[in-house]
Amino acid sequence: MIQVKDNVYWLGLKDWDLRRFHGHELSTHRGSTYNTYLIRDEKTILVDTVWTPYQNDFLDILEKEVGIANIDGIVINHNEPDHGGSLGALMERIPNVPIYCTKRGVDSIKGHFHMDWNFVPVKTGDKINIGKSDLIFVEMTMIHWPDSMMTYVTGSNVLLSNDAFGQHYCPKTIFQDEADECEVYQEAFKYFANILAPLTPLIRKKIAEVKALNLPVDVIAPSHGVIWRKNPMQIIEKYDLWANQYDEGFVTIVYDTMYNATKKIAEAIAKGIENAGGSCKLFNSSTSDISDILTELFRSKGILLGSCTVNNGYLRSLSGIVHEIKGHKYKGKKGAAFGSYGWSGEAPKRLSEGLKDAGIQVDLEPISCIYQPTPADLEKCTRFGQEFAKSLL
Ligand code: FEO
Repeated sequence: MIQVKDNVYWLGLKDWDLRRFHGHELSTHRGSTYNTYLIRDEKTILVDTVWTPYQNDFLDILEKEVGIANIDGIVINHNEPDHGGSLGALMERIPNVPIYCTKRGVDSIKGHFHMDWNFVPVKTGDKINIGKSDLIFVEMTMIHWPDSMMTYVTGSNVLLSNDAFGQHYCPKTIFQDEADECEVYQEAFKYFANILAPLTPLIRKKIAEVKALNLPVDVIAPSHGVIWRKNPMQIIEKYDLWANQYDEGFVTIVYDTMYNATKKIAEAIAKGIENAGGSCKLFNSSTSDISDILTELFRSKGILLGSCTVNNGYLRSLSGIVHEIKGHKYKGKKGAAFGSYGWSGEAPKRLSEGLKDAGIQVDLEPISCIYQPTPADLEKCTRFGQEFAKSLL
């Protein structure tokens, strides 16, 4: 157990091995942590549990550090199994202890465990006294599940933010000021880009609501990764920035290729973008990690998708990209499509339609080259890149 501040302690688990999360959807190159917190006041309150596979380790830690019978209440800020997963095993030991969660949290816990425990539904502004401190609850509906909420501890001024402000990152210590800042921000941004990007309108509204509460915040303690202890408001300011049609002005080109014709086109377009004073990053979607690609797309102003044509469409690695772009509901980005073909040539048109369907502004007609591009074709692609770069200004 590590003291976070005053009466708030961390007793989570570090998962150095984790490489995929949400099933296999999200890559987690630097592992993750399942942060749970204990508030030791006149009452002893546990905030969240850990992912189900670690429930036995977690109960052992709880027994050794706290004594499970000494727990007076459990707050479940969010019942996704990486936080609520050990609740079933814990409640077998203390079945009558109250569980504080949102109304949607009650639904979620009942839906996962099919048990009718001693639920105490709470909503934004509700407060419970646990001795010197009060716990104040703030609903975070759909950020990112219906049940999500945060818990604020008065006196120690610690905001237990659950998934918000977290990172899938296993650090050497749990404090941000003792971790590599570059790694922390890479993972915090990736988390935002991959999990929270579709929710930016809600996030902007919620940040304004939380600021309006005027609660002094000394520490922000999320459920994954490091605890923000030094200038904790920095991550709230970053969320405010990232949630406002964020981009860094460059272009990301994502392509797949069979015999390098589409790759050559991608590189010729990249040359055109650079000639026009722009900058770009290129990814082959069949060999790159899709979570990393989505991170780059989120920070891009321009999105170019390319594929050769196969079976009257584009290569399958682009399907996942088009699907995710639509799901992530990007705002304020421009896109275009390109590709090579041998006979029918539908891929660029389909990619262009996919971008439009995803809400991306597409002004340029897609560009195609038959078989291997000639020097003249590549010159045309370079001009296409220049034109696209100028359209971003
Ligand atoms: Fe929404 Fe960390 O789970």
